[in-house]
Amino acid sequence: MSGRYSEKVAVIRGDGIGPEVIDSALAVLEAAGAEIDQVDLEVGLGRWKRAGEALAEEDLGAIKECRCVLFGAITTPSDPKYKSVLLRMRKELDLYANIRPFNDGRIDLIIVRENTEGLYSGIEEVGDDQATTVRVITRHGCRRIAMKACQLAAERKRLTIVHKSNVLKSDRLFLQICRDVAECQGVEHDDMLVDAAAYNLVRNPEKFDVIVTTNLFGDILSDEAAGIAGSLGLCASANIGDKYALFEPIHGSAPDIAGKGIANPIGAIRSAAMMMDYLGRADLAGKIESAVQRSLAQGIKTPDLGGNSTTRGVTEEIIKAIKRGFA
Ligand code: NAI
Ligand code: MG
Repeated sequence: MSGRYSEKVAVIRGDGIGPEVIDSALAVLEAAGAEIDQVDLEVGLGRWKRAGEALAEEDLGAIKECRCVLFGAITTPSDPKYKSVLLRMRKELDLYANIRPFNDGRIDLIIVRENTEGLYSGIEEVGDDQATTVRVITRHGCRRIAMKACQLAAERKRLTIVHKSNVLKSDRLFLQICRDVAECQGVEHDDMLVDAAAYNLVRNPEKFDVIVTTNLFGDILSDEAAGIAGSLGLCASANIGDKYALFEPIHGSAPDIAGKGIANPIGAIRSAAMMMDYLGRADLAGKIESAVQRSLAQGIKTPDLGGNSTTRGVTEEIIKAIKRGFA
């Protein structure tokens, strides 16, 4: 899958179902005619067990030489010595915007989650009787995530700022800055407390267009949105910074179904489509998404969606749909 003008893409399959769904995504990219120059990197629990570290310094160097990363999922062990690979990559590559579109069933919205600060600051103190985690909200962090969300909201209808400013003073800053940016950008906006947003998302998902929120709230609301969309296995994400980008399905390594050949590959396939859009090939992204829609409409579904197809069956159906589209 390499061509003279192809883009260098780091591919991290990871653990559990990660390799299964990334192989599907690569096969679909190839069928769609994407030209990428694949740089395979071993990162995750498997690497940690084998070599004592999950993400080596030289891997970060190799990633920085690529345009972007296609990532499967990795298993996080409970060992306190283990440092979260994704948190490290998001921070070191400064992938500050986590963009998660949901458009299945009753839901059609984008969650824009701040990805580098908030409660995932990594500033923690664990004592015998007390443990604390520091929630960091900066003006710089709020401004740039609000700008990204406003760019997306300008193409849709409305921006909803989700926060908990009635209790958390740090969220008063977040809310204020998001409002200021939305006003400056001329974007229609409102705001909602996170608990109310969790409730309304289930009851009236159609009321939301673009949600912007802090790290932990975005993490939780996006799994909720995936449940409304039908399955975690359907949903994709882009982690975007000013220099680098990483594309991954929102699900984890799903050890309960790993190796069974029944993982839903659509989240990974859609992540690959988002990557093509980022690489300036919106045409290929569109082709892949239409093929996914066609295959779903024909009822070719893995068990998480109530079907009895395999990862391979779904992948082949999507590839067939792409090829029919070319004919
Ligand atoms: P998970 O997302 O792996 O699985 C949750 C449930 O959804 C499981 O029942 C699983 O079978 C199902 N599921 C997930 N993806 C699916 C797919 N593509 N097709 C069909 N069913 C699917 O979350 P869980 O179980 O909490 O975490 C498992 C491991 O993954 C943990 O070690 C966790 O730390 C890690 N994880 C990694 C992430 C990443 O690498 N980005 C994100 C979330 C969790
Ligand atoms: Mg999560």
